Amino acid sequence: MHADALIAELEPTVERALEHHLASTKEWFPHELVPWSRARDDVAGETGQAPDTALADGVRSALFVNLLTEDNLPYYTSVITSLYGNDGAWGAWVRRWTAEEGRHSIVLRDYLTVTRALDPIALERARMAQVACGQVPRPHDPRNGLVYVALQELATRVAHHNTGKQLDDPAGREIMKRVAADENRHYLFYRELADAAFRLDPSGMVVALEHEVRTFEMPGTGIVDFSHHAKAIARAGIYDFHIHYEQILLPVVIRHWKLEALTGLTPDAERARDATLERIARIAQAGRRTAERRQTAALSA
Ligand SMILES: [Fe+2]
Ligand SMILES: [Fe+2]
Repeated sequence: MHADALIAELEPTVERALEHHLASTKEWFPHELVPWSRARDDVAGETGQAPDTALADGVRSALFVNLLTEDNLPYYTSVITSLYGNDGAWGAWVRRWTAEEGRHSIVLRDYLTVTRALDPIALERARMAQVACGQVPRPHDPRNGLVYVALQELATRVAHHNTGKQLDDPAGREIMKRVAADENRHYLFYRELADAAFRLDPSGMVVALEHEVRTFEMPGTGIVDFSHHAKAIARAGIYDFHIHYEQILLPVVIRHWKLEALTGLTPDAERARDATLERIARIAQAGRRTAERRQTAALSA
């Protein structure tokens, strides 16, 4: 199926899903969640300020990466717009989604500035570097885009949720919970579109799925010291192979999209399905090893 035809066929689904999204979304205000009384004035140019809150490395890295990813919103919007256009229901959705995502960086930055959980100067320098380089994954086809955003929104939900669980601060936990709840709604929205696309073009979607599962990475390319932060986040059990398999690939690809049971696939798509299932099995195995290592480390600590 031609990509343009698929986008046109999906338009009524986008319209319905957007209507449902708008009718069931509860308005919330970033400023109501930020503990302003903990703020203090700053002296311009003062560097290396010690953060007020003692945080584990993995949690600090997660907050840093999560916020810088939200800061990269202009590029995510431009990628999604270039794939699906700016008109009709698609355009209305992308603009609404952009407005909702904007809340995430507002609330996270205000919280981190007020509590000094991260050094604000280091954070601002990292934001400048990140946004000035503008690196984001760029799926080359609308089918790849749908698979990517569905998996990515869920992965982001899980990462925010797990970060929040490891915060001692109730204000921080509440913020991460609220942001994670938004990501979950975004995930459900994109998953519904992907469901419809699987019905319309199963072979095209399976080929896209193979590519996206094979190349999937948590967002963060272009962030200063990204691989160091990604390792700390994995060590803290906030996001790793085990979680990626148990909470993303298994529930979405295997159980929800029922990859194994799809019928009527072209030979190319059959090969893509086999390769995807094999890859998912390998990720599951790597995840089990990670979980075992963490358990052993926890017992000997
Ligand atoms: Fe977000
Ligand atoms: Fe989101």
